[in-house]
Amino acid sequence: MTKRWRDIGSLYQIYPRSFQDTTGDGVGDLNGITARLNYLSCLGIEAIWISPFFTSPMTDFGYDVANYRDVDPTFGAVDDFRRLIAEAHARNIKVMIDLVPCHTSDQHPWFVESRSSLDNPKRDYYVWKDPKPDDSPPNNWRSQSGGRAWTLDEKTGQYYLHSFLYTQPDLNWDNPAVRREITDVVRFWFDMGVDGMRVDAIWGISKDPEFGDDSPNPHPPHDLEQYGAFIHDHCKYGPHFAEYLREIASVCDEFEDRQLVFEFYPDEQLGNIYEQYRQVIHAHPRGSAFFMEHRHMSWHAQNTRDAILEYMHRSVGNAIPFFCLGNHDQPRVVSRLDYERARALNFLNLLTPGISVVYYGDEIGMENGVLDATQLRDNFSPANSTVDSRDLERTPMQWSDSQFADFSTAEQWLPVHANRVSVNVTKQTNETRSMLTMHQTLLKLRQAMPILVHGSL
Ligand code: GLC
Repeated sequence: MTKRWRDIGSLYQIYPRSFQDTTGDGVGDLNGITARLNYLSCLGIEAIWISPFFTSPMTDFGYDVANYRDVDPTFGAVDDFRRLIAEAHARNIKVMIDLVPCHTSDQHPWFVESRSSLDNPKRDYYVWKDPKPDDSPPNNWRSQSGGRAWTLDEKTGQYYLHSFLYTQPDLNWDNPAVRREITDVVRFWFDMGVDGMRVDAIWGISKDPEFGDDSPNPHPPHDLEQYGAFIHDHCKYGPHFAEYLREIASVCDEFEDRQLVFEFYPDEQLGNIYEQYRQVIHAHPRGSAFFMEHRHMSWHAQNTRDAILEYMHRSVGNAIPFFCLGNHDQPRVVSRLDYERARALNFLNLLTPGISVVYYGDEIGMENGVLDATQLRDNFSPANSTVDSRDLERTPMQWSDSQFADFSTAEQWLPVHANRVSVNVTKQTNETRSMLTMHQTLLKLRQAMPILVHGSL
């Protein structure tokens, strides 16, 4: 690799199920990504982030990991991934993968053991608590995917904690053995040649040691079983947040030029405290928090300017800025705004210092998918919503106007958007003012003019 993280200007997020299918099963795979590296290289991309492709029962499409060190057969095999790294590096493209440190799948052998008996040596790998005297859950914590964050295990009579789906039990980071396991996972992939990790849901790494109730939200949603019914002042960002985060980040010090970027959202309910957490993340020279504020901002120049300057200010001298417009959990930028505004925001995002992050398909202005209830796949709440489901931002990449958009040769796991006829890579490649051409021009400019990456605003 000729460039270091600090000198590169872009990161492209790939949701592997939806990028390129090479086996004809309607689901994307690692060989598909490798096959499209020339496209990314021509676009001017200097690093890719691939969402999870590890062994998983797919209740959360890979964010429920059953084996941290293997590739799910849906996506290929470890050798395919080795080849992907080699091919990416040959094109001077860095490879970042997801690290899901706070929970596993309930099918992970650790959890299978942990739930088998109260005195199993792996019991303490997860968070188990006795019911309250009236048999109710240990506290009022809600799951981010809706409903209670506790599920009773009938056999052993205790509740286990899951900040997301009940199929995603939380790991107990207060157990040093768990911390060693996860840092070894980081070493495993860095040894293979991976250049960085996007760290998932980091806020859950430390919790209130007393497991106190979260405070009620003064403006609760209609459904009090939802996550938003409470202010999350006990279930996340516990007292060991900084310490555990440093443990993960310190693995980077054992290798040459590795980078971590943490999932991080402004939490208005926690007020300005969240800024302190961002500072904790930025304190390690190899750690950054994504700038996700665009997602939460109205269309307002001054607010946008202030938020960007604030983030730059927090990054100065240390963290690499990672500016995002969307990801696999957020509605597509074109659908949040409109085409012209999205174009302007992309333009801005491609001219901010540091690393501009492009979510696959945003470079051609892909819109949220249009799905009927029978086509929904995501298990997260709000269940069965064809308006809010995360499936909408995960529809197949639109390479061409053909029936399956050249993503696959068969029925896809999510339907390709009908607008593939006008919104696709092939068409936009030949248009001088397309969203794609704008991306290519600015991404190449970032490569050619270091001041765009390193300059002040
Ligand atoms: C993160 C991921 C999201 C996933 C959740 C649970 O927020 O981005 O897709 O569902 O963590 O792992």
